[in-house]
Amino acid sequence: MDMNMAKGQDDTPRKVEHVAIIMDGNGRWATRRGLPRLVGHRKGAARVREIVDICPDIGVKYLTLYAFSTENWKRAEAEVSGLMSLFRRYIMREAERLHENRVRVRFIGDRARLDRKLIELMADLEEKTAGNDHLNLTIALNYGGRDELTRAMKTLAEDAAEGRVSPDDIDESAIGYYVDTRYLPDPDLIIRTSGERRISNFLLWQSAYAEYEFVPTLWPDFTAEEFAAIIAGFTGRDRRFGAASA
Ligand code: IPE
Ligand code: IPE
Ligand code: MG
Repeated sequence: MDMNMAKGQDDTPRKVEHVAIIMDGNGRWATRRGLPRLVGHRKGAARVREIVDICPDIGVKYLTLYAFSTENWKRAEAEVSGLMSLFRRYIMREAERLHENRVRVRFIGDRARLDRKLIELMADLEEKTAGNDHLNLTIALNYGGRDELTRAMKTLAEDAAEGRVSPDDIDESAIGYYVDTRYLPDPDLIIRTSGERRISNFLLWQSAYAEYEFVPTLWPDFTAEEFAAIIAGFTGRDRRFGAASA
């Protein structure tokens, strides 16, 4: 047997179609410079554009970004409201450009706790870009994997109580329909910046077979070059999904 083939290093590279990123380290970036944490968040938001822009060039069809977790409400009120206003401004500023670049934008997470103006901006952007197919950008905002599964189970229980589903109908693909990511393939790769090696409640159901890459770079310093290099490294890895090597 050709050992290079076994390692998946033949000339048909593995696909990395869906990449999800835990954009961490904004606070430390700012604190190290003696600046308020919100400056780090602003720098972080400015990084998103170049990461989005390079995706089509490196074969990434789905990009999912963790912007705010269900646990992030525990932060100081000024930081939380600063982040919310940053999300509103990000959408207002980037909407036209994303649309021109044929990016389809969708949001996952629980919208109920967000303010009305932000909910409106999110819905408008989703509607505006619904026909685009150059890149699928998903932004996780007030997202938590456990919260998502809890909401999914509630809906499933309602459907069961009303006779729309029976226990025999419930399989993995049915559960995949109840979670927020129903329109997304599972992530192939999850990147976390800032050196922390944990998943912090991100895509719990969807990441069963994801590869992980933890990089020390703080999110405001994460460049398109570093991103492209990670993707290039990943395409050589042998993903077996529990089976033996080919
Ligand atoms: C990630 O950066 C952004 C959000 C969680 C909103 P952090 O704010 O968590 O930055 P660190 O981890 O404190 O450096
Ligand atoms: C995860 O980062 C959430 C986002 C990047 C939006 P956190 O900084 O909130 O996670 P912990 O607190 O280190 O687990
Ligand atoms: Mg953090």
